Amino acid sequence: MTAPLKTPILPAGAAAADEAARVLAAGGLVAFPTETVYGLGADATNGQAVARLYEAKGRPAFNPLIAHVTDLAAAQALARFDIDAERLAATLWPGPLTLVLRRAAGCPVAELATAGLDSIAVRMPDHAVARAILTTFGKPVVAPSANRSGHVSPTTAAHVAADLSGRIDLIVDGGATPVGVESTIVACLGEPSLLRPGGVPRAAIERALGKTLAITPIPADDDDAPLAPGMLASHYAPHTRIRLHAGRLEPGEALLAFGASLPEGAVHSKKTLNLSARGDLIEAAANLFSHLRALDAAGARAIAVMPVPHEGLGEAINDRLARAAADR
Ligand code: TXA
Ligand code: MG
Repeated sequence: MTAPLKTPILPAGAAAADEAARVLAAGGLVAFPTETVYGLGADATNGQAVARLYEAKGRPAFNPLIAHVTDLAAAQALARFDIDAERLAATLWPGPLTLVLRRAAGCPVAELATAGLDSIAVRMPDHAVARAILTTFGKPVVAPSANRSGHVSPTTAAHVAADLSGRIDLIVDGGATPVGVESTIVACLGEPSLLRPGGVPRAAIERALGKTLAITPIPADDDDAPLAPGMLASHYAPHTRIRLHAGRLEPGEALLAFGASLPEGAVHSKKTLNLSARGDLIEAAANLFSHLRALDAAGARAIAVMPVPHEGLGEAINDRLARAAADR
């Protein structure tokens, strides 16, 4: 979908929920209110829609996104709940709490949305408009705050329009968001840990858990900064060495290609996958993590990566490739 020049704003209601679901199903981007802040939603299972979402936000890096669902069964199709996570969900969902959990086997969320990580952030919002859109659409929706990267999170439809009009397909106006700060993020990947303070106070979480929370903060400006190091791997790291800016292929290497013309030696590649043969950066972003994983499994001595232009989503693609190359 190509975003309109000026993004339409629909008042919340059944017609808006239908239109939002239609736009999401077509791979488009819809801003909608949750109880915390306005989110910018895309079909979580559609890698190209997720790539467009990063582009609309102007994110210089692919930070992982929160998958929004309406019920526990839908959450369990995405993530594995340990006993702590079960307690938190039973007590505090729906509500402004996001759980970072192990990705479930068969989780349909696009690799780009979770930035190639083995964990996934899941949340069940407590807002009638968000719930109506999610229910009508019937699939998980990834939604970061609906602001341009580096700007503050929007709590009204007017804030969203000021940042994103003309860059997204639809804004659903459900009035000011009641909580006004983002959800609290708790990782349950071992001992539960607070990653971001937010709409649910820490004490309420500790009461539900019956124990205290460790604190592993992620930077407040989540849009630009990488995640904190420590127990959480901040980014996807392949086992195989990554060789960037490859102008020719060395023996035993696999090739991550970009564009139509392959480098010298490509015929001897252990395995070749193309991010986008037609040089489309949105398609390339959608393929990035799944291609890296597949090449990582090829038993090559290195993965040679062709240059990717440093424009549009290319900046984020190069950021992730540079981290993958450095991290060993
Ligand atoms: O209230 C909210 O949570 C809003 C509404 C729209 O739901 N959403 C929101 O999303 O604040 P966003 O993308 O602006 O912030 C999500 C944060 C980021 O800091 C991201 O790095 C972190 O969640 N996150 C997502 N997945 C993660 C993961 N697997 N591990 C660690 N952190 C993760
Ligand atoms: Mg944000």
